[in-house]
Amino acid sequence: MREIAVRAPGRVNLIGDHTDYNDGFVLPLAIDRDCRVTGHATDGELRLRFLDGGDDNSHRIAEAVREALHLRVGLDADVTSTVPIGSGLSSSSALAVALANAFCSAADVAPPPDEVARACQAAETAATGVPGGIMDQLTSVRGRAGCALLIDCRTLEVTPVPIGKLDVVVVDSGLPRRLAHSAYAERRAHCEAVSKGLGLRALRDATLEQVADDPRARHVVTENARVLAAADALRAGDGEAVGKLMLESHASLRDDYEVSTRELDVLVERLVAAGALGARLTGAGFGGCVVGLAPPGRGEDIAVAVGGFVVRAVDGAGPMAG
Ligand code: GLA
Repeated sequence: MREIAVRAPGRVNLIGDHTDYNDGFVLPLAIDRDCRVTGHATDGELRLRFLDGGDDNSHRIAEAVREALHLRVGLDADVTSTVPIGSGLSSSSALAVALANAFCSAADVAPPPDEVARACQAAETAATGVPGGIMDQLTSVRGRAGCALLIDCRTLEVTPVPIGKLDVVVVDSGLPRRLAHSAYAERRAHCEAVSKGLGLRALRDATLEQVADDPRARHVVTENARVLAAADALRAGDGEAVGKLMLESHASLRDDYEVSTRELDVLVERLVAAGALGARLTGAGFGGCVVGLAPPGRGEDIAVAVGGFVVRAVDGAGPMAG
């Protein structure tokens, strides 16, 4: 019986939120927290044991992933995860991508990585009802050690950008993301309506002038520009410039896109007060995590000061080492 041992990382997004479903740009990294599936293939039966907690969604995601990949094989496996569940570090995408790798390994097939990411995106949407973008799954699949990924969410072109000696700090607000589902779908529908009204394929194609009077659409246009500027600054090793753009991103998510909360705003302020070059909410918002960029060697201190943790950029999903 074919043995399975695969892993898929969670992600944190340095900058570029609510841009992926507008065909825009994002700059996330796969992190050293992952979901692991170990066990063996079966003829079709699915026996999954979620050792770090799973719910109906986890089982639904497993079925949906298998269906999206058009595979018939089954799994008898343990599923463990060090990605904090439901905190905005893409625990469910890590699960979906790990399961996708497990099914592919069980069936002895190796579809192109982007196809795996797309199948996982479709599966998560089917299983959770949230019409998410492609950022989380693609990052989990395509992650690169030591690098953030500049992703063009229209073409799925991925350009690794070395993070160098800068440290990335994450703080979990611990807030349940109650509004996240309905507000996410509402924001996405609004963006699509605006781009349609402008006769565009997506808001990625809008100019600032075209959206000047619509705060939501304005966020998308200005955020795309910030992502590209941040990728350039990171490449040039200019952490201060990246930090400044992160703070501008947070202000835009708070004031124009209105997906922040008072607690997230306070965590951003605390990270900066503790010495971070910049900080912002990361992911969908309405709770979840805040990400900060720390000067070289300062990550651990800053993390301790704010009750957070340092994350390292790792390679994307694959077989478990050893
Ligand atoms: C969630 C979605 C992503 C993305 C972010 C916001 O994490 O799953 O596709 O839209 O929100 O940037």
